[in-house]
Amino acid sequence: MSPRQPLLMDCDTGVDDALALLYLLRTPGVDLRAVTTVAGNTDAAQAARNALQVLELDGRTDIPVAQGADTTLRGDIPEYATHVHGDNGLGNVRLPEPTAPIAAPDAADLIIATAREAAGELAIVATAPLTNLALALEREPELPAMVRTLTVMGGAVHHPGNITPVAEANIGNDPEAAHRVLAAGWRDLTIVPLDVTMRERLTEELRQELLADGSPVARFAGEILDLYFAFHAKVAFPARGSACHDPLAAAIAAGEVTPLLAPELHVTVETGDGPARGALIADTRGIHLGYPPHPDANARVVLETDGTFPARLVERLCRRDGAR
Ligand code: BDR
Ligand code: CA
Repeated sequence: MSPRQPLLMDCDTGVDDALALLYLLRTPGVDLRAVTTVAGNTDAAQAARNALQVLELDGRTDIPVAQGADTTLRGDIPEYATHVHGDNGLGNVRLPEPTAPIAAPDAADLIIATAREAAGELAIVATAPLTNLALALEREPELPAMVRTLTVMGGAVHHPGNITPVAEANIGNDPEAAHRVLAAGWRDLTIVPLDVTMRERLTEELRQELLADGSPVARFAGEILDLYFAFHAKVAFPARGSACHDPLAAAIAAGEVTPLLAPELHVTVETGDGPARGALIADTRGIHLGYPPHPDANARVVLETDGTFPARLVERLCRRDGAR
């Protein structure tokens, strides 16, 4: 049996981050070593508390959860997405108070320590603004060489943004951090943008399967999707349902979703104060205009997946999957 993939998730524990966490816990090939949180959907403390509660719901009190940055690199407080994820980040669904405390090191230190301990084998999946990773890079410039893969849910390539016409929330909420992190020279960097996460759709039928399952994890997943679906109904989702952002990135990081199209591209982030602030700029001229490959390609950018992941996610969270 091949050893399980050690993995750290850096998140802003909203509805889809929570589903991604539960998915990773239920994925036999993954060894979730640590969770770090940052301001985004909620503040970093609430995100840490949410992560602890979600882990505990699945019986895990052994995974350290560290709290990270509450402001962006330039000191702004992000506009929390309570209209998408509810006042508590978990669709206003209440879980018992966590019994485990927030870990002592801050998020950036826990990222560095976890990478060291995994001796070059750690996979990181970042489903939130990249502030913690930028701070970790400041403290440990060798981090990119110490990490096996980094998978980032963020950006919009051919798709419009979701917080401005061109900026997606995770990149747009801290463009300076994203700019530094993407340019840091990772061994294997994958970007999972809105282009694919908006097309992998969780449906009301799948939500009903979760609710009908009867296990606490599946029921919780179904319940938190209620408010999330209500938000998506306002933004171009004709049938009741939602995008599947963070779980898709988690599945790609875990090697459980193989993209249909994922070219190696040069990516950077606009950090100016104009209307394009926070845009991910991916040089797609190679795929559209036949330009030669970019000599400085720094990421694999996922542009197509087959749309079947949400059903597999739901199966994994339901008791009948047999994982628990
Ligand atoms: C991303 O922004 C957050 O609101 C979600 O959790 C996801 O990580 C989508 O743009
Ligand atoms: Ca997120």
